[in-house]
Amino acid sequence: KVVAVIMVGGPTKGTRFRPLSFNTPKPLFPLAGQPMVQHPISACKRIPNLVQIFLIGFHEERDFALYVSSISNELKMPVRYLKEDKPHGSAGGLYYFRNIIMEDNPSHIFLLNCDVCCSFPLTDMLEAHKRYGGMGTVLVIKVSAESANQFGELVADPITKELLHYTEKPETFVSDLINCGVYIFTPHILTAIQEVSMHREGQGHIAANIRHLSSFETLQSPTRALPLDFVRLDQDILSPFAGKKQLYTYETMDFWEQIKTPGMALKCSGLYLAQFRFTSSHLLAGGDGTKSASIVGDVFVHPSAKVHPTAKIGPNVSISANVRVGAGVRLISCIILDDVEVQENAVVINSIVGWKSSIGKWSRVQADGDYNAKLGITILGEAVIVEDEVVVINSIVLPNKTLNLSVQDEIIL
Ligand code: GDD
Repeated sequence: KVVAVIMVGGPTKGTRFRPLSFNTPKPLFPLAGQPMVQHPISACKRIPNLVQIFLIGFHEERDFALYVSSISNELKMPVRYLKEDKPHGSAGGLYYFRNIIMEDNPSHIFLLNCDVCCSFPLTDMLEAHKRYGGMGTVLVIKVSAESANQFGELVADPITKELLHYTEKPETFVSDLINCGVYIFTPHILTAIQEVSMHREGQGHIAANIRHLSSFETLQSPTRALPLDFVRLDQDILSPFAGKKQLYTYETMDFWEQIKTPGMALKCSGLYLAQFRFTSSHLLAGGDGTKSASIVGDVFVHPSAKVHPTAKIGPNVSISANVRVGAGVRLISCIILDDVEVQENAVVINSIVGWKSSIGKWSRVQADGDYNAKLGITILGEAVIVEDEVVVINSIVLPNKTLNLSVQDEIIL
């Protein structure tokens, strides 16, 4: 038997995702019309002998309760949310819930970060892992040398694929091969995590007084100052276990991105829409889906949305529940969230439009589309009103604002 664990973090993580994470936890933000976390969940569902999926986080229980019950019904597979009373780190959370995770006595545990976007080649990873025969296998990818320092950089044996060396976000370049945040482990990983925290205790640095440190100080402190039950998968497990014939790598040649910012969410929404062409083309608009609105490229339109037949939509557009799109509207590369109204002849390009917002007639909401720049996409927070004929370019507008004048390169607080 196999189980999967998806780390969903908590409200103190994901701050770069504001203002879109004010009312919706980042893992539930929709990409290609599905909550971010549903993409890895659907991938897990395809693993042979998978019996259960756990989401571990420190978000409020009520934020996830409805979602896990509906997705469990839909997939006919138990998906459970396990809430930590406080952050235990990316490996500590797994250990904290070890008894529940081991309930079915699984032979393998998949562990996935919720904020990565890829094709999740999990079954291939499982097979490679069984061939290697170690404690764990890490999904890795080659990226550009300039971008590698945002991730865990690693060195692997080109023949055996053993993980030889691992450094988390190093200041000086180590390797362009990076950690994708997708792992498969045998249950030995739980012993390894336990050893790390026992070793810390052995050092005699029981950080009983750690609680009054701010999270910034905790991050800056040496490892021994961390609480005993706070264990990071990268620094505390991958680094020390590298080169010990315990950890191996599986390289993906497919797409992979990390989703830390709204810009990357928009990019990844497009990547998932493109993937739907091959995996779930019934989810894409076109043909019967949207009656006669003209659709360009990959587009998702929620069945409850009302799109005027003279609107032109796509590529990379995702339209959520109860959205109304008026006559003559043009939408390109955008995510339109629930209950938004886009009135006649408005244009939205390279933007995310927040829940319940309204865009007036002949208005334009747009950006250059540089997914990595702070103002590279325009973001309207929840319930923003853009009045008629107003132009909003490369800007972030916080929730509940009304714009009656045009703005450019601004953050509207
Ligand atoms: N439940 C829980 N509790 N989840 C957590 C906690 C925690 O205390 N801390 C982090 N996570 C979750 C995050 O939500 C995320 O899904 C994952 O664990 C990793 O988060 P971070 O530890 O903040 O690391 P990161 O995202 O900056 O980088 C990691 O992932 C990259 C790939 O996206 C590292 O492993 C990098 O090496 C890797 O390249």
